[in-house]
Amino acid sequence: MKYKSQQIAYWFFALCILLFALQITYGFIMGFARIGWDGLHDIIPFNTARAVHTNLLVVWLLSGFMGAAYYIIPEEAQRELVSVKLAFVQFFSLALVGVIAIVGYHFNYWEGRKFLEIPRELDYLVVVNVLLFLGLILTTLFKGKRQTTTAMVLSMGLLFAALLYLPGMIWFDSQVMDSFFRWWVVHLWVEGVWELIMGGILAFLLIKLTGVDREVIEKWLYVIVGLTFLSGVLGTGHHYYYIGVNKIWLVVGGIFSALEPLAFLGMALFAVYMYRKGEKKHPNKLALFWTIGSAIVSFIGAGLLGFAHTLPQTNLYTHGTLVTAMHGHYAFWGAYAMIVLAIISYSVPNMTGRKRFDKTAGHMAFWLSNIGMLGMVVALGVAGVVQVYLERRLKMDFMVAQEETKIHFVVMLLCATLFTVGIVMYMYEFIRYGKPSDEALEPAA
Ligand code: HEM
Ligand code: HEM
Ligand SMILES: [Fe+2]
Repeated sequence: MKYKSQQIAYWFFALCILLFALQITYGFIMGFARIGWDGLHDIIPFNTARAVHTNLLVVWLLSGFMGAAYYIIPEEAQRELVSVKLAFVQFFSLALVGVIAIVGYHFNYWEGRKFLEIPRELDYLVVVNVLLFLGLILTTLFKGKRQTTTAMVLSMGLLFAALLYLPGMIWFDSQVMDSFFRWWVVHLWVEGVWELIMGGILAFLLIKLTGVDREVIEKWLYVIVGLTFLSGVLGTGHHYYYIGVNKIWLVVGGIFSALEPLAFLGMALFAVYMYRKGEKKHPNKLALFWTIGSAIVSFIGAGLLGFAHTLPQTNLYTHGTLVTAMHGHYAFWGAYAMIVLAIISYSVPNMTGRKRFDKTAGHMAFWLSNIGMLGMVVALGVAGVVQVYLERRLKMDFMVAQEETKIHFVVMLLCATLFTVGIVMYMYEFIRYGKPSDEALEPAA
């Protein structure tokens, strides 16, 4: 590590780990409720648990992206962050907004808009926080010695993500309009600008871990950005099939969203190809596992499992079922959770000076969490197909069909336990050995 201010990333990663642990807890509350063990129902009903589970996910990922930017941007721009003090202010205000939102959800202080449950008043706090973050990152980047493609793609991803938060804040009396613009946030985030963030982090990690020339890696990055925009923007149409807008979206959404897996395929090929081309064998194999793993699993979770329900003919049956939950878990896990865990695995040893790359615990964490998540996704997928068949084909009553999926949630919970054991090992390593140390600073050249 070259710049002391990069160590601010540690605090964002610590927040990540904490919120991730809470997210998993709420996942279990819902999983148990699904098999009839809903003792907490009066305090934390399913809908509250669901909103908390998904919002914690988004907040810990954003915290991870911010940590990644605070680590990557000074190194790419070759200068210290413009203000570490303000970065701490931004950190604490992010944690504060997160806490207010999550606590509020337990007191019914939320809006019933999936993923955008944060009440509008709080949205303004989010905006202020993100403006401060962007100000710090962008001034550091532009005052720096160089503006690399990697840093630009990462920063543009973060900037566009912030801009796209705004359409979700407009108030509409019409349910159709509200739904239309809600997807500008939800879809254009995960299938648009967040892919730029992922691509930026991925490129940075591949440059560091494989030793392949920056020029080669950044050329690929352009291709991925191009494919993302080409397919992802009009691909929004796959959420417009049956919400009450013009029928043209059936065609537009179907065609363009069917092309979306290409960007993820590009990412997977890119990572594997760079890995094979790389001569420099970086000793941090664990970070490399998470990096390549993220590129591959995102192709399966987002690309293949997304494609599985994206055509209007299938989506007519699968919309809003456990098939969606299956895809949601694997796509978020592969594309965004794993890339955040990758940058943490890469940067923490650099911030602490402890070269703990090859410890068994770290490798166990990788394999157990991945095998566990794959099992969860298969269980959700089977439950989803059962649900679609019984409820949508045989027209069975919703609750009767739900009963039939119970057994699959038992399997899911077993796999979730395996997943959690892996994640606990990851967290243990982070808490025990993650504290930054100034001894890690490289002597100035
Ligand atoms: C990393 C990228 C992705 C993530 C994190 C992701 C995540 C999600 C989530 C959480 C939902 C549920 C949203 C809601 O109901 O509010 C969803 C829905 C959906 N996703 Fe993705 N997705 C990704 C990429 C893709 C891709 C590439 C495709 C298509 C090839 C796709 C196809 C769909 C479809 C069709 C739905 C609607 C499901 C329904 O009607 O219930 N997704 N996605
Ligand atoms: C390990 C423990 C976990 C358990 C037991 C769990 C369980 C659940 C359950 C029961 C639901 C609600 C499904 C429904 O509507 O019936 C859900 C939703 C969701 N979970 Fe998890 N989850 C876990 C971890 C995760 C992780 C690690 C991620 C992300 C990487 C994640 C992402 C999501 C998403 C995106 C949704 C919303 C899906 C949708 O829109 O349909 N979960 N989870
Ligand atoms: Fe989408």
